Formats: sequence, structure tokens, C-alpha cells
Amino acid sequence: MPAASATLTSAEIRRQFIDFFREKHGHAFVPSSPVVPHDDPTLLFTNAGMNQFKPLFLGQVDPGSRMASLSRAVNSQKCIRAGGKHNDLEDVGKDLYHHTFFEMLGNWSFGDYFKAEAIDWAWTLFTEVWGLDSERLYATYFGGDEREGLAPDNEARDLWRRYLPEERVLPGSMKDNFWEMGDTGPCGPCSEVHYDGRPDAGISATKGRDLVNADDPDVIELWNLVFIQFDRQPGALKPLPAKHVDTGMGLERICRVLQGKNSNYDTDLFTPLFDKIQQVTGAPAYSGRLELPADIAYRVIADHIRTLTFAITDGAEPSNEGRGYVLRRILRRAVRHGRQTLGASGPFLAEIVPVVIREMGEFFPELKKNPQRVADIIRSEEEAFGRTIDRGIEHFDAASKAGAIPADAAFQLHDTYGFPIDLTQVMAEERGLTVDVAGFQRLMEEARERSRAGGGKGAGDAVATLPTDAVASLQKLGVKPTDDSAKFDPRPTLGTVRAIWNGRDFDENAVASRMKPTDRVAIILDKTNCYAEMGGQVGDTGRMRVTKETRSSASNIGDPGDGVIEDTQIVAGFVLHLVRLKKGEFRVGDSVECRVDDPRRQAIARNHTATHLLNLALRDTLGGTVDQKGSLVAPDRLRFDFTADHALTPDEVAASQTIVRDAIQRALPVFAEVQPLESARQINGLRAVFGEAYPDPVRVVSIGAPVADLIADPASDKWGRLSIEFCGGTHLVSTADARAFAITEEEAVARGVRRIVALTGQAAEDAIDLGDRLVERAQKAAGLDDSALDAEVGALLTELERSTVPLTERARVREAIEALQERLKKVRKASAKAGREQAVEAARALAAAAGAGAIVSEIPAGGDRQALLAAMDAVRSKHEAAPIMLLSRDDDEGKVLIVASCPEPSIKAGLKAGDWVRTAAEACGGKGGGRPDSAQGGGTDPGRMPEAIRAAEAFASEKAG
Ligand code: SER
Repeated sequence: MPAASATLTSAEIRRQFIDFFREKHGHAFVPSSPVVPHDDPTLLFTNAGMNQFKPLFLGQVDPGSRMASLSRAVNSQKCIRAGGKHNDLEDVGKDLYHHTFFEMLGNWSFGDYFKAEAIDWAWTLFTEVWGLDSERLYATYFGGDEREGLAPDNEARDLWRRYLPEERVLPGSMKDNFWEMGDTGPCGPCSEVHYDGRPDAGISATKGRDLVNADDPDVIELWNLVFIQFDRQPGALKPLPAKHVDTGMGLERICRVLQGKNSNYDTDLFTPLFDKIQQVTGAPAYSGRLELPADIAYRVIADHIRTLTFAITDGAEPSNEGRGYVLRRILRRAVRHGRQTLGASGPFLAEIVPVVIREMGEFFPELKKNPQRVADIIRSEEEAFGRTIDRGIEHFDAASKAGAIPADAAFQLHDTYGFPIDLTQVMAEERGLTVDVAGFQRLMEEARERSRAGGGKGAGDAVATLPTDAVASLQKLGVKPTDDSAKFDPRPTLGTVRAIWNGRDFDENAVASRMKPTDRVAIILDKTNCYAEMGGQVGDTGRMRVTKETRSSASNIGDPGDGVIEDTQIVAGFVLHLVRLKKGEFRVGDSVECRVDDPRRQAIARNHTATHLLNLALRDTLGGTVDQKGSLVAPDRLRFDFTADHALTPDEVAASQTIVRDAIQRALPVFAEVQPLESARQINGLRAVFGEAYPDPVRVVSIGAPVADLIADPASDKWGRLSIEFCGGTHLVSTADARAFAITEEEAVARGVRRIVALTGQAAEDAIDLGDRLVERAQKAAGLDDSALDAEVGALLTELERSTVPLTERARVREAIEALQERLKKVRKASAKAGREQAVEAARALAAAAGAGAIVSEIPAGGDRQALLAAMDAVRSKHEAAPIMLLSRDDDEGKVLIVASCPEPSIKAGLKAGDWVRTAAEACGGKGGGRPDSAQGGGTDPGRMPEAIRAAEAFASEKAG
């Protein structure tokens, strides 16, 4: 172990690496890119330092950009390897050197230096700067691969032999010594430096060289030097125009070596986290043992909280899909370990976040931007999972009553409560139970089948999820991606049919008329003016016709085709027109005319421009943290999802709506311009969507002033607000053409994400008119008398429920209705009181008139049982010894209410209240009963009230005489 460096901290090690390349070898420092690769749809998380440089390697970088000027770079990249090609999730915790989150130190040559320099500098840094024991170092090189037609990298081998004896320079396979980022992308042979950290390395019978790449915990890879020369494409390795160097060294591993530890987790990168975990869970301290469950739990939690903190900071969130789902699993894994092994009793993860930020925030200042948000998201996710776990445990307990966990219970635990099968197994083992794992696997497979089978529709509908080999078959046919440069042009255009989807494949001889006429077919042209669904804007519809004059007159050719374009989609650059045939047929080679439904396109454009205005208005109203989360731009409405930590108040809705209306009023011009991506990104105030991959060059849409003017002088925007977004959609020429704007819905779609639905054009005007009318009606209703008011309030509520009106007007109508309901409530209270008084009054008269013996009488109490009971009290107070029955008819509800009360002597004589009420109730179509001294009941037919009274009287005289 190099004694001199034993005291270096992780921050110093990172700094020394950067300085070595920056100061000594002229590298430019480039900050880490986010762990969420917003620009690269092929990746779940940033999995290597080279991700952000991918365009440079592929020669796709815009020549004018800052990146294009880089020839040497050094960085420390935040990486997450949890899903996709590089996935270490399952190893984390179980060993001492894997992580889902880690930092990768790297030096880079972009077509500049190559193998000799890269190897020489790696050697110098390791042995001279950091003083690593050269006896413990091994180098590997690519040993070649026949199947790929790749020769061994003898150049690298010979370069290493300048520093290391031959027996410590080892050839390796495609798997170990050919580095690839994913299924596609830049790649090349690599050469790794391994370190033998065994205490007895020099004297052990097992040679270090036999442990290289053999999963030995002490003989580990420290640094990978990749010589990027190819682009992996489906089915082929394509040589790149230039050769590059991409190196990567795990900071956690080099810290472990330089700090003289035998575990990455014993370095200063993790010990502060362990202290905090101990504090929040109350568990015994971390003891560094490999197999102790508590130590595994510590490592899992420490690793996972770093992953969660960085990923959420960079814009990801736990959810049910894609990377969000990976994060949810990571979080749940950490929670389970904390609760089940370390004994945490409630949420604990969020409390560790501040330690990650304290330790890492200096080098990654983005962590300090909104730590509260990160902690809040983790806490609420953890709370939700806590509830699920508790319910799942209940479910488990119930299922375990049978003595074994059946397959369906294990499946439900997985499906509904998020219990992985291994958790169910562990819990079962603890209780001495077995689990039907085979049955569980079968149910899982069935569920997968079901989800695969779901959604299978007609030929055209399958197009949206076109199999990848369909695209390959298009390429094989020599069909070129569609030229859609005319898509902003509303005029009809002419094109030629290049391919037709036959339901299974693209067929060059396909004739669309062979399809059932009800089927949709997908037609690909060489060029089109139809806008294919993209960026939230729905696809165009229109008409496609074969133009007669180009049709040959060969006898086997049917009538020229005519069809309705019902949707337009794009897959891998091919624009698919989903056409429902009306008559004739389409053949490959036909000339066709495409006519876009222009009024619909205009309506879409109104909603698209209004979406940009709304985006801006929300940011102005709610503050800069508002981020677009999704949008739908359709002809009949727009829908916009965005981050917000609360439901919008009526004032915020009104303010946002006013800003958009103001823009429409001002008739601001709308501009679109194509810009190199790199320079467009620098535009001040530009709104790009998180997670969206933008093309280069990119189209920029601005409202109020041309993009170029805004770049030169942001003040050239006369409106005083800046709407400028990356956007490939169709827009208005002037905001005035949107005519009107109304926000009609505001609701939650996920935690921290709100949705607004809004209208423009005629739809907005109609909604506004209707809203005004309802407000007016609600105000006028105040002048109605009580009974008319009751009906009008009911009618207004139904109307409001049914109609689309702006939220602002909806709020005003509701407010007016509430005032009216308040008034109605008072009226009802007063009339109930009057009713009760009337019933008691009648009861007093009855009591005064009644003689000895049973009293049976109707009382005017309507449906008010309390009034009837009050009447009973009034009669009883005058006739202590009499059996009394009172009845009341409720004609509105079609009911009879009955109460009876029998004092002790009449009970003794056989007249019991319960039987008595039952007799009366049955006589008017109902039932009743109760105690002997007091009972209640009811009939369903007020018309039979006299019969009920007669039956009651007869019963009383029979029993009591
Ligand atoms: N791209 C290589 C790796 O990730 C070297 O940086 O290992």
C-alpha cells in the first residue's frame, strides 16, 4: 500500500486526477453531465463518462459548438448502472466494490492522442504520482475476435510491455476487453489496469494473473482505457472517421486503494453515510463484514440514497415506468433493508439526503439547488411504500394461514404490494413456510402474455408500435426516410407511394385494395406535407388520392385509389399515413396527392401556440421551478402537464389565463428558425423539455420577436416576456389568430405534477359565453322566491356539471350558488322548526281531547321523525298510563312514519309497542317493531293510513280491552 497517499481524501484524489490531466497534459475540464441523459433516448441513465461525448465520437457534433472545439478533456462523471446494458443493482450490498451510483474519472482524446499517450499517462499517474506498487499491477488488452473479424490489439500489448513484464500483460475476450456503451453507439477495444490488493499478493500460491477478471474481491479493475474506433449499429460495426480515447476509473475503487482499505465502502465516501444511517435507524454500527445482513443493509442503503439523491436532483422521479420504475425499485429495496434488517420503524431515507449533499455538494453544486424537493419526493414515496408494506404483510399473514404461500398469493404480493418473490420467500422461511415459486413463475408468465396480447388491433393501428424489423425491411427495400420538409406548408402536395404495410410487413408489390375496405393501411410516400404526431402535437388528417394522369392503363390495374388519411405517424424517419380506403386501390409507384385537413391543422396550430403562451404564463405566475412534463396539442383542446407543488389557486389560474389573453390581444408575431443545437441551448430564457431528445440542428420557436433578435438583444422583445422554445410543431403566424383562450380544467396527475386543459378559438369563445351566461343566471337567481330558488339552484348545478366553462367563471358561479344554498339552508331550518311546532301543537290538542284508554292518532309531522317523537312526548306528559301510537304521512317520499309507546301496565296486559307497530305498519305496506315499551316503524303507502289506524285500534282493544 502506498504509505504516502494513505491520507488522501476522496476530494483530493478527484482533484489530483483532474489536475494531472489539466495542468500537465493540456486537457480541458468538462463538468459531469446529468445522470439522467436528457438527450439520449437509447439510455436509461448515464452509464459512463463518454455518454455526453457520444456526438463527438460519432462525428455528429455541430462544427460551431463548444464541444466541437474540444480535443482533450478530463472529467468526473456521475454514473448510474442500474438497468440496461450495464447493471450492477443486484450486486450492490452483497460485495464490497459494486455500486449503482459511482463517479467515473476520465481523460479523453477526440481524434487527438491515442494508445501510446493514454497508456503512458495512466502508468505515470498510478506509479509516480500516486505511488502504487507496480508489482501489484496487471494490464489487459483485447485478444481479438474472429466472429466480429477483429484482430488482437498487439499495439496495446506492446505498449504495456514497456512497463510491465510479459506475464502481467494479459489478453482478454470481447466481453472483458471490447467496451460498448449499449446496443448501439461508439465502442472499441479496451485495455484495463487491474490491482491485486490481497494482503499476501507477493507470496500467495495463487498468482494474481489468475484472479484478473475472475470476480475476486481483492483483485479488481481500476482503470479502463477504451480506444474508440467503431460505431455499433444493429448488425454491424461501422469504423468511425477518427480514433479516440475514452478512459474511466471508478473513484470509489481508487479511493479504496489509496486509502489502504479492502472495501470501497470503508472510504470517506461512505463512512459519513453509515454514521447517519446508524443514527436514523438505531441499529448497531456498521462492522464491514461481507455476509452480515446488517452490513449488507448498510451498504445497500448508502449506495441507494446516493443514486436517489443524484437522480432526483437531475430530474428523474420514482414512478411506474422506465427509469422512474428503476428508481422506485431502488428506493423500495433500501426501505426494506432499513425496516427489516436495521429495524427502522418509520421513514428514514430522506433524513440521509442532507449528508449526501454535504459530502458531494461542493464538487456537484447542482445538489444544493433544491435539496428540500429531493427529500420531499423520497419521503412521500417512502411513506406510500410503508403503507403498501404494511398492507402486504397483512395479506401475507392471511395467506400464510394455510401453512404455505400459494402461487396466487405470491403473485398478488408481487403485483399489488410490490413484494419481490425473494422477499416473500424470506418472510416465509422465517415462519417455516414454503412458497409455490413454480406456480408464481407461471402466473408471471401469463401476466406477461396478457400484456403482450393486449392492444392488438387492425393493420394500421399496429403501425404505432411497428416491429423494428419492419423498419429494417423498409431499409432493405431501399425505401428512403420520408422527406417531410413541406410539413409546414398547408398546400396540397404530390408524392409517390414507396411502400404499403400489408399488416405484417412492408411489401413492394402491395396493393392497398386487397385489404378489407374497413382496414386502415399505412402508406409511405417519398415526400409529404402531413405533420406526423410528434412533441405532443397530434398527427394530421386529410385526403390521399391517386392522380389519374400518372396512372398507367394496364388492364390489371384497378381504379385510382381514394382514401381518408385518419392519422399520420412517424417511425425511424418514415412518415406513415394511416389511410382508410374509400375506393379504388393504391400501388407502390402511384403518384398521389396529399391534402391536409387545413381547418383542423389551423385549430391545432392555435392550440400549439397557446401551449407555448401557457407555459410562459405558468412560469411567470408560479415561478421559475415550473417545468413542462408533457403536453397534448389536439384540434379541440390543449393539455399541459407541469411541475407544481400545489393545486393552483383561483387567482393563479386567473393570472395565467390573463397573460395568455394579453398575448392574443397584442397580436404578437410568431417566429420559427432552425439553429445549431449547441448554440440554441445557450439562448437565455429558452424552454426545453426535460428528458426530450432534440435533433441537431434544432427548430426554435419564439413569440414576439425573431429568435436571432432575441439572441442579439433580449430586450428586443416588446412584450416584456420571453416565449422561446425548442419545437418542431405547427404554429400560428400571429397570436391574434388564437382568438380566445380559456382554462377549463386544473387537476393533479401525479405527485407534484398538475394538468391544465384549455381551449382556443371558437371552442374558447363558446365556453366563455356560456360561463358568462351562467354567472348572470346565478346572480339573477338571488331575486327568486324560496321555492323557485330551490329549483334554480338544482338546475344551475346540473348545468355547471355538464358544461365546459372557464374555471374563472366556474368559480364565480359556484360562489354565487354557495351563497344561494346558504339562504336555502336557513329557509329549510326555519320550516323544519315550524313543522315541529305544528306537530307538537296538534299533539297537545289531541292530548286535551283524548279520554282514558289507548290513543291512536295521525299527527301532521310529514317525514320528520323528530317532530313525531316530540309530539309523542307532548301526549305522554298528559297521559302517563296510556298506550300511545302516533302516525304521520310523508306524501313527498310516499311513506308513513309510526311511533308507539306502551307503559308497564299495558305491557303486562299484552299490548307491547313492538307488536303493535308491526301490526300498524303491515297494514300500510311496511314493517316495524322494537322493544315492548317503545317502538318505531313505517309504511310505504300513505293512502292506507286509515287502515293502519284501524288495525292499531283493533289490536289495542283486543289486547288491553
Ligand atoms: N467507457 C469506459 C467505461 O465506462 C471507460 O470510460 O468503462
